[in-house]
Amino acid sequence: MKRPYVILNAAMTLDGKIATVGGDSKISCEPDLKRLHRLRSEVDAVMVGAGTVLADDPSLTVRRVTGKNPMRIVVDGEAKTPVGARVLKGDVRTIVVVSAIARSENVERLRKAGAEVITLGVSYVKLAKLLNKLWVMGVRRILLEGGSTLNWNMLKEGLVDEVRVAVSPSIVGGENAKTLVGGEGFSRVGGGINLKLTKIERVGTNILLTYRVGEKRC
Ligand SMILES: NC(=O)c1ccc[n+]([C@@H]2O[C@H](COP(=O)([O-])OP(=O)(O)OC[C@H]3O[C@@H](n4cnc5c(N)ncnc54)[C@H](OP(=O)(O)O)[C@@H]3O)[C@@H](O)[C@H]2O)c1
Repeated sequence: MKRPYVILNAAMTLDGKIATVGGDSKISCEPDLKRLHRLRSEVDAVMVGAGTVLADDPSLTVRRVTGKNPMRIVVDGEAKTPVGARVLKGDVRTIVVVSAIARSENVERLRKAGAEVITLGVSYVKLAKLLNKLWVMGVRRILLEGGSTLNWNMLKEGLVDEVRVAVSPSIVGGENAKTLVGGEGFSRVGGGINLKLTKIERVGTNILLTYRVGEKRC
């Protein structure tokens, strides 16, 4: 099934957290945020999970550099995205992808707030199907911006091609702080996702690591 090229990007502390136990996810530094906004302007769509919308209320637009805004996609099985969410604001196209368990009044609310709503899957959004649908719509490059759960689902289903992680020089700890990839996890390293390091850059105070997915670790 044809699908767009997917780049997973995140800002992470040295101990692998993408937010603190208190939910603070302002991990990046200004030069890295500028890099992120440039990257947004270079893709056709930006994708996040509903948890990120609820926690961070991101706009997902290009503001720190000059460039076009990508389409915004929210994977939101239960249609929990609040109608006042920033991701629904402005004249940028937003698609909220729900499953059949989403309540029809929530779906209607989102449509009235300007979102296009797509239903895919019974109780879980079929991500491979979604990517194929986006391909048919002309989407060729997607920037996956988290969070932890959606990163897991996308990686587990083999739908990520590249991982770019900005490692900040900070440690925040916390067993319950969200990590780069959540979900149920693999029980053996050998069963995990193999990556190949392709680039190391310094971006402000962060180290930006770029990996290709699907290659042998060593
Ligand atoms: N530092 C960074 O770069 C960065 C970037 C993004 C986010 N974050 C942080 O990450 C945290 C959010 O992560 P999270 O794991 O809580 O949330 P998330 O991954 O953003 O969203 C998870 C939710 O998305 C929905 N979802 C995901 N895959 C689905 C599928 N295949 N089918 C149906 N629904 C699906 C589910 O909603 P339902 O349960 O409603 O079905 C799920 O609970 C926040 O703390 C945020 O600050 C950090």
